[in-house]
Amino acid sequence: MNEPLPPSRDWRAQVSDLASEGDVNLSPLRLAWEAENVGAATRALLDADNEHFLHQALSTPCFNALASCDGIWLTDVEGRRIMDFHGNNVHQVGYRHPHVIEAVKRALDTLPFSPRRYTNAAAVELAAALAGLMPKPLHKVLFAPGGTLAIGMALKLARLVTGRHKTLSLWDAFHGASLDAISIGGEAIFRKNIGPLLPGTEHAPPCDPRLCRFGCGDACNLRCAEYLDYVLGKEEDIGAVIIETVRSTDVQIPPPEYYRIIRDACDRHGALLILDEVPICLGRTGRMFAFEHYAIVPDMVVLGKGLGGGVFPLAALVARGDFDIAADRALGHYTHEKSSVGCAAALATLEVIANEHLLEASRALGAHALERLREMQRRHPVSEVRGIGLLLGIELGRDGRPASREAEQVMYHCLARGLSFKIGQGNVLTLSPPLIIAREELEHALDIIDAALSAVEAANAG
Ligand SMILES: Cc1ncc(COP(=O)(O)O)c(C=O)c1O
Repeated sequence: MNEPLPPSRDWRAQVSDLASEGDVNLSPLRLAWEAENVGAATRALLDADNEHFLHQALSTPCFNALASCDGIWLTDVEGRRIMDFHGNNVHQVGYRHPHVIEAVKRALDTLPFSPRRYTNAAAVELAAALAGLMPKPLHKVLFAPGGTLAIGMALKLARLVTGRHKTLSLWDAFHGASLDAISIGGEAIFRKNIGPLLPGTEHAPPCDPRLCRFGCGDACNLRCAEYLDYVLGKEEDIGAVIIETVRSTDVQIPPPEYYRIIRDACDRHGALLILDEVPICLGRTGRMFAFEHYAIVPDMVVLGKGLGGGVFPLAALVARGDFDIAADRALGHYTHEKSSVGCAAALATLEVIANEHLLEASRALGAHALERLREMQRRHPVSEVRGIGLLLGIELGRDGRPASREAEQVMYHCLARGLSFKIGQGNVLTLSPPLIIAREELEHALDIIDAALSAVEAANAG
């Protein structure tokens, strides 16, 4: 490997006070990782990235540079292979799945773009396929080039359907980084000092035992869901409740009754229920859509990320058929609204999920991984493990407190051994491997995590 070069530091000094979460791009552990692992070729790309891109939290400055990806693997410019258990959640079918790539290449060779005044077969087939997978009455679709934009379309449509502009969403939620999305989102890193945000965006506490203000302890007592009912009753003019069905960044899985209470409250108070499944749709949780775990039907669902097969930016709003009321308005009007390439990628992705039985794989591999994590929990300072399908969270805690530094140490230890994952809320190791992963590969990744937990404990004790 090339000699590591020192990273440039001037911008880090300016922004170091923003380092609020564990998995940030500004921390001293990141610097140490770079010093050990980044060689000259990578350093040159990172420096060019620093020079040309606007810096922003959670991306530039980056810490490594990629040359290729394939299946569950990333390959960096220095030739190291890294299992990707993060992938920004675009990689349910893995990278460069041959069926997806073939469909994309075919679309590129025939119809690389479809101007908005025309439709195309791939877009129509994909809309029909998604409607076919959804329960009734969800069967009208609009595509957009990203999840944030699809959330924005849902917010507009909710206003038109209900005649109400107010929304109710959850603190700590993420629905995208645009101004409308951060208005309903609940993370300070996106909302701080950037307002004014949209008016009428009410917030309630999330279903998260750690943040719970309702005394639920380890298991949810559903008061958080009842509180949403209370707010809807108080305000009376809230048009929509927007929630991530399962919060992906730190794997928060509400109990089954949670959505029954909220669905019922929305119905009584005339509010729509919009579920954001941008990162967790298409099998991540072991079902095609996460709301299927809850035996309720939302009024709208927002899909994205993996919908584009790990190739193309594509998101979708799927809404009740009777919401098709906005023929004289523009809900989305995005240039790549019916991308022939994106829709071809998405259709191929749905085929791969069916042909390779990835929902079953997600459930079986996820259950096995959770069992192994529970066993690790007995041996390591892990306060909780959570999982649904192949979305798994390992919450690190010591003496009843979040172990954020240890979480970061474990992550960099794993990165140096070829496993990438994200940290949520500072101390949750969040694992979302491609659903095509082989059992041996999953075992190997869990071995790396197990060894990293031991190594970090030993290092901190020494
Ligand atoms: C829950 C959730 N909603 C919406 C979005 C926004 O999607 P996109 O980045 O495609 O705009 C994200 C992205 O991470 C997300 O996790």
